[in-house]
Amino acid sequence: MNSMSINLLEKAAYLLKQDHLVAIPTETVYGLAANAFSDQAVAKIYSFKNRPTFNPLIIHCKDLKMAQNLANFNENALKLAKVFWPGPLTLVLPLKETSPISKLATAGLKTIALRIPAHPLALKILELADIPLAAPSANPSETISPTTAFHVENAFKSSNGLSLIIDGGPCQVGLESTIIDLSENIPRLLRPGKITKEDLKSFIIEFSNASLEADVIKAPGQLKRHYSPSIPLQKNVQQVNERQALLAFGHSPLIGAKKTLNLSSSANLIEAAANFFSMLHELDSIEFESIAVMSIPQYGIGIAINDRLSRAASS
Ligand code: TXA
Ligand code: MG
Repeated sequence: MNSMSINLLEKAAYLLKQDHLVAIPTETVYGLAANAFSDQAVAKIYSFKNRPTFNPLIIHCKDLKMAQNLANFNENALKLAKVFWPGPLTLVLPLKETSPISKLATAGLKTIALRIPAHPLALKILELADIPLAAPSANPSETISPTTAFHVENAFKSSNGLSLIIDGGPCQVGLESTIIDLSENIPRLLRPGKITKEDLKSFIIEFSNASLEADVIKAPGQLKRHYSPSIPLQKNVQQVNERQALLAFGHSPLIGAKKTLNLSSSANLIEAAANFFSMLHELDSIEFESIAVMSIPQYGIGIAINDRLSRAASS
């Protein structure tokens, strides 16, 4: 980090402490960050994103100690935090009664969603500001998540209120963090991500089998329609026509689309995840009748890609 970028990060930390909104890079997607202690700052997130206020936010911490001031960590939570933080894993835990977090950020729930992001700029800003930051993805509600500073700028170019966008390059993971609920007796996966159930199973033996669909009630933000392009999207296509855009995967992309982007021509799911939102942004144009997506294998991070695709396809 050179001195110029340090100055910019100090400015970001200062603005955040003054309850302004700052877009920050994380390893998953860009976040729209605000002081999690301040109702006024958090209210700006909801209004800026046009996000329903019953949908709670993830609170980002600089370290485990900061997180432990906000929530009660049981044995499983401590184990996972030690293994996966900083990283793309969000833990839903019982909120400490003494926690000074804005009730708007937790939507009044008795639980709180916490993570430590693994991006050097996000960590530096958290350290400089020294406050927990509420940060949903930095895009208007229901639209495609941002994985570059350009996506953020483009999404909000006609709105006032975003004080600063910190450019940390393209996000490495490209999909939002895995969310696991540890606030009840049996852990439950609420949102699939790069860290899979199999990864977590090495540390937590028992998992609830309740389907993700049932969790719509538990995680109000997991609305069925989400991450949506402005034109229709079809999953698992077997053929395409010359009016469609094709989001391909693997060695043999279908032939005949007006435009084709390949998530990974070597069929690498990690690469596909990193390209996913960026390519959706690029194909989301009225030039095309719809976006046709080839099938993505349902294992590893492919499960998370298919989850986001289903929500994007749902109307
Ligand atoms: O990777 C990520 O997690 C990104 C980056 C910026 O860190 N953030 C992100 O935030 O994806 P957002 O607001 O788009 O998603 C937050 C999800 C929502 O589905 C919300 O319902 C859920 O977390 N959530 C937050 N608090 C919760 C709680 N107490 N119980 C259950 N779900 C919760
Ligand atoms: Mg989001």
